[in-house]
Amino acid sequence: MRLENKNAIVTGGAGGIGRATALAFAAEGAKVAVVDLRADAAEAVVAEIRAAGGTAVAIAADVANEQDIQRVIATTVEEFGGVNVVFNNAGIIRRTTAVETTAEEWDMVFGVNVKSIFLMCKHIVPVMAANGGGSIVNTGSGWGLKGGGQAISYCASKGAVVNMTRALAIDHGPQGIRVNSVNPGDVNTGMLREEARQLAQDTDAFLAESADRPLGRMGEPAEVAAAVVWLASDDSSYVTGSALVVDGGGIA
Ligand code: NAI
Repeated sequence: MRLENKNAIVTGGAGGIGRATALAFAAEGAKVAVVDLRADAAEAVVAEIRAAGGTAVAIAADVANEQDIQRVIATTVEEFGGVNVVFNNAGIIRRTTAVETTAEEWDMVFGVNVKSIFLMCKHIVPVMAANGGGSIVNTGSGWGLKGGGQAISYCASKGAVVNMTRALAIDHGPQGIRVNSVNPGDVNTGMLREEARQLAQDTDAFLAESADRPLGRMGEPAEVAAAVVWLASDDSSYVTGSALVVDGGGIA
């Protein structure tokens, strides 16, 4: 039970990597606030956690909205008594080049992928600091480290996540708050299927391409969750500002 007596917030907790991480956090003993735009899907994850004997609450919220973020934190503190762990994971993608991307789409991607993390940290750091510290994990991407094609706003946003994570680690380390990013390669979630749709590609062919890496397959959400559990737990007590890559060796 590596997260016993910890209270955690997981954003984007209703889907893919967020859902797997919410389940893994609960299995390690944490109480989990499952935050997502999709209220019913968040409730379903909470039901799964409770059925397994864990403690969780669903909170419907838009992570790009400051009032929603403040409500998420207030509700979690009210329900669990404090917050030790935050997984800033909600994210969206637009598979377009700069020429094809509208200014509105750019702002939307940055709102969900980047501003959300700023807002969460702005309001959670004082809560964590008053409680002796905590661990924040932000979902970047392999494309935030090396770039990728036809996803200009996404690549820029995930690069911002990686560097914002380092800046947060520098500012708040002295308060006992560790901040790291987890950077997945292709992971078997709804996002990959959404990318195939946006690119008007055959889903099976698109998913098959994801296997083109040294380990010969795409990742599963639980494999990212396992890395996030480590970063959230005291097992990684001397790790902050790092960009942990979980991508089956997706070097190209
Ligand atoms: P997903 O689409 O399955 O899950 C994302 C979740 O975020 C959904 O439940 C969605 O409802 C929620 N969400 C979206 N906008 C939101 C908002 N404004 N407020 C609250 N919730 C919102 O996707 P997946 O793959 O699990 O993505 C999780 C994170 O992992 C994202 O940040 C994504 O960019 C990142 N990632 C995913 C990779 C993949 O191959 N699946 C690769 C690298 C990074």
